[in-house]
Amino acid sequence: MAMAIVIDNEEAKMLVQAQAHIWNHIFNFLNSMSLKCAVQLGIPDVLHSHGKPMLLSELVLALGVPQSRTACLHRLMRMLVHSGFFSMHRVYKDPEEEEEEEKGYVLTPSSRLLLKDNPLNVSQFLIAMLDPVLVTPWHFLSAWFQGNGLATPFEATNGRAFWNYGAHDPEYNNLFNVAMANDARLVMSVVLRECEATFQGLGSLVDVGGGTGAAAMAIADKFPQLKCIVFDLPHVVGNLVGSKNLDYVGGDMFDFIPHADAVLLKWILHDWSDEECVKILKRCREAIPCTDKGGRVIIIDMVIGDNKMENELTETQLLFDMLMMGLVTGRERSKQELEKLLLEAGFTHYKIIPILGLRSLIEVYP
Ligand SMILES: C[S@@+](CC[C@H](N)C(=O)[O-])C[C@H]1O[C@@H](n2cnc3c(N)ncnc32)[C@H](O)[C@@H]1O
Repeated sequence: MAMAIVIDNEEAKMLVQAQAHIWNHIFNFLNSMSLKCAVQLGIPDVLHSHGKPMLLSELVLALGVPQSRTACLHRLMRMLVHSGFFSMHRVYKDPEEEEEEEKGYVLTPSSRLLLKDNPLNVSQFLIAMLDPVLVTPWHFLSAWFQGNGLATPFEATNGRAFWNYGAHDPEYNNLFNVAMANDARLVMSVVLRECEATFQGLGSLVDVGGGTGAAAMAIADKFPQLKCIVFDLPHVVGNLVGSKNLDYVGGDMFDFIPHADAVLLKWILHDWSDEECVKILKRCREAIPCTDKGGRVIIIDMVIGDNKMENELTETQLLFDMLMMGLVTGRERSKQELEKLLLEAGFTHYKIIPILGLRSLIEVYP
């Protein structure tokens, strides 16, 4: 017969907390999936168009979901109110009769960033990151740790390295590039306001791994005299047409980078191993003139552990570091780790401007 386990009050409290901790981690993916569902259903846009707190019954009608799903939609919204994506405000049906008040859903700052007509919206970033192509590799993480011979869990699932995958799956290629453009627009809106001086006086700039050019477009708009080149893999920039001061060039940054006064590396170094980063940085150094002639590399990336961060931001950085482990050969780096790479590639000094909360702009000089 099994022995009864006897625990005291303190132990019982700890046990319950530990169990809740584990359960919350087990089911954390339901946070992501609930948010993905809300974006796919277009809930943020519907609430925005409504323009005032929206009752559940109104939301059901506007979304066109069957009435039989009303109770489930209430549960989905309850989850997303709990996690801060929506909140509930009073709706007065008749200002004379307060007892008739009901509560309706409204947007929060986070869900406003998911609105289609917000130029800084990140909804496609969300959809791309939660696509099965990127989510399935996590089932192979432990096998990869045990040494299945592949460079990344992504390869184990999808049969190709991450950066080759898009060339064979045009739909995902497009989804990923739109996602990156979402992020680039948001980041550049801050960078061009806070770090204008970084770009002043430059005659030309090449955005290496610049995707479909969202960051370079923002720079080219702000500095019409600056000649911008977006340099990326041929399957990313192949069919794109430039403008007055923006050109697209296809190629491999490990072979050659077009010459310019400055190289922009936004969200590039964290994709690659230390050895690969040194190779990229050496190619960057060959592409720019000396410091006296204005040569510089502008890196936009996370610098982990640099500032004493709020707990939530630290978690975001750790999550991104894990993301790099699952998908590519890269990692998020500390100031010391980054400095080592810069010196090894022959750069002499750098300046970190931690203006982006989670990310920093780093000016690097030959
Ligand atoms: C994480 S994305 C960043 C895109 C863009 N810089 C941004 O932050 O929005 C990395 C980019 O590097 C490009 N890339 C990967 N390998 C490359 C290579 N060997 N040569 C040039 N670009 C490459 C990818 O196609 C992708 O657009």
